[in-house]
Amino acid sequence: MTNDGRPIPVIIDCDTGVDDALALLFAVRHPGLDLRAVTCVAGNTDVAGVVRNTLTVLEVAGAPEIPVARGAARPLIEPSRSARHVHGDDGMGDIGLPAPARVPSDLGAVDLLRREILASPRPVTLIPTAPLTNIALLLRTHPEVTDHIERIVFMGGAVACGNATAVAEFNVWHDPEAAAILLTAGVPITMYGLDVFQRVVVPGADVRALRESAEPGARLAGDLLAHRPAAPDVDGDPEAGGVGDAGAVCAVVDPAGIATRLLPVEVSLAPGPTRGQTLVDRRPRPGESEIHDGLREQSLVDVALDVDVDRFVKLYLETVAGV
Ligand code: BDR
Ligand code: CA
Repeated sequence: MTNDGRPIPVIIDCDTGVDDALALLFAVRHPGLDLRAVTCVAGNTDVAGVVRNTLTVLEVAGAPEIPVARGAARPLIEPSRSARHVHGDDGMGDIGLPAPARVPSDLGAVDLLRREILASPRPVTLIPTAPLTNIALLLRTHPEVTDHIERIVFMGGAVACGNATAVAEFNVWHDPEAAAILLTAGVPITMYGLDVFQRVVVPGADVRALRESAEPGARLAGDLLAHRPAAPDVDGDPEAGGVGDAGAVCAVVDPAGIATRLLPVEVSLAPGPTRGQTLVDRRPRPGESEIHDGLREQSLVDVALDVDVDRFVKLYLETVAGV
């Protein structure tokens, strides 16, 4: 909720995607959020598949009226490189979801984002859980929207260790130029990166209970969590599943569940092994580079360094399954 007790207006930009679907299920069910639109971008699977998956998830969740738009089919510069090995051939873990009954908006993602941001009675919180291509195109095409954006809480980047490469997280690695544009948006930004993303894991017993639910949305959450491997350090519970992108939405509802620090962040755009890395400067004082060559301009970002795992798991389960 906002300070005045009204739900926070949010838009999710996603590449649904098993854990993007978990994020959507949470967002439509949390009373503190007003999900105004969902925009789709190529990432985990091709953009047509992302649109199909998103529409189906919203229908199963009982929220078929939320506008959905198709966005960029590939990153700004590079070709698309899907994550089928993680999200299955259909991007949804190949769990046999039906095709959606409706079609997406006539508007493209950038136009829908602009319309909904400007139409919102209060500034919107954007929650990108995907490569940042749509958001970069929006910021470059309609910079006036930034006055109507409260903040951007994005799932992407990593302080410590990558997943797409040793140092780069998938969403940033997929379109590093777009991520660099996001970081200079001139609005408050929170980076919900891999360091916290991988830690929020639902125990196997809760996943089983969700899968046995009579309610379709809760059951879908259980089936999706069953497809999500737990983080490598959660051993002894093979049925546990990470909420992934949904954690970024939890962080909007409950910002106190993460510990953040305002730190300089930049994206490595150089070709080679560091491309797509988010360089987070955690040094307590300037180093020789700054002393000899002067300070470089870098964006300051609220970087999530820690997460209260039990708190977010409880929030997720209470919201999606009402337990
Ligand atoms: C991110 O990449 C995708 O596979 C997930 O949906 C998440 O947004 C994690 O690197
Ligand atoms: Ca995603």
